[in-house]
Amino acid sequence: MQTDAVKVNLRVDLTGKTALVTGAGSGIGYGVAKVLAENGAQVLVNDISPELAQEAARQIKGRPFPGDITSVDLINQVKETPIDILVNNAGFQHVSPLEEFPPEIFRRLLEVMLVAPFLLCQAVVPGMKKRGFGRIVNIASVHAKIASAYKAGYVSAKHGILGLTRVTALETAGFGITVNAICPGYVDTPLVRNQLKDLAASHNLPPERVLEEIILRPVPQKRLLQPEEVGYLALFLCSAAASSITAQGYTIDGGWVQI
Ligand SMILES: NC(=O)c1ccc[n+]([C@@H]2O[C@H](COP(=O)([O-])OP(=O)(O)OC[C@H]3O[C@@H](n4cnc5c(N)ncnc54)[C@H](O)[C@@H]3O)[C@@H](O)[C@H]2O)c1
Repeated sequence: MQTDAVKVNLRVDLTGKTALVTGAGSGIGYGVAKVLAENGAQVLVNDISPELAQEAARQIKGRPFPGDITSVDLINQVKETPIDILVNNAGFQHVSPLEEFPPEIFRRLLEVMLVAPFLLCQAVVPGMKKRGFGRIVNIASVHAKIASAYKAGYVSAKHGILGLTRVTALETAGFGITVNAICPGYVDTPLVRNQLKDLAASHNLPPERVLEEIILRPVPQKRLLQPEEVGYLALFLCSAAASSITAQGYTIDGGWVQI
């Protein structure tokens, strides 16, 4: 992690707060869950893979909360659990030209990355309003603000979640609740590593040239972010110092999109 060059010493006291992080068994979700746990939150580690949820929870001393966020059971479980911090992170990618994009994968992308976060917001907001405190952090993407070719489903879902972020923020303002999105550029996670082969095929390039020539080409810093860097931005948004920051979409991308 490049931020190691400058020791990160951002501390926020989250003692007594319960945080639910979806898709926390891997990548960015794990990075966010780890940073929140290190700062005192009791973290419910959700993942569709029970093994990943279990192992990540063990590592960060959180509580496994396995399940598919698109399932009614999981949403009902969340309704019964007091949640102070919700991080909507779970997601996946599919790379394909528009004409060949499988409609069922397009629908699933929206289901996981837009409909489920909406249902989770519905599930946690009443309790947050009652307790007078809440933080919702939606892990969107630079693809909430700009498009890339061959990512119709992903870009549609991410543009959608930025809209959902803003509406939820407006309806919860005045209750001690803030709702923001984080819009990362490329982060070094399995989601990015796994798409190198598909991007290579779509762009007609050998896979070893995709990172440099496609992914990092527009990024001034010429590096992938580390998951903890997103974690620290989420931590700041959960702090009292960020009480007035709501309805925003924060880009963290090495200087790529500048909006
Ligand atoms: N990696 C990047 O460059 C990048 C950039 C911008 C935004 N994002 C976003 O960050 C989020 C996390 O991505 P990542 O790169 O860490 O991916 P990842 O594949 O490393 O992790 C995603 C996790 O979500 C879980 N998951 C998937 N579907 C789920 C479901 N229905 N219910 C519960 N868990 C589920 C997976 O099992 C996996 O552990 C995604 O929303 C992604 O769109 C990633």
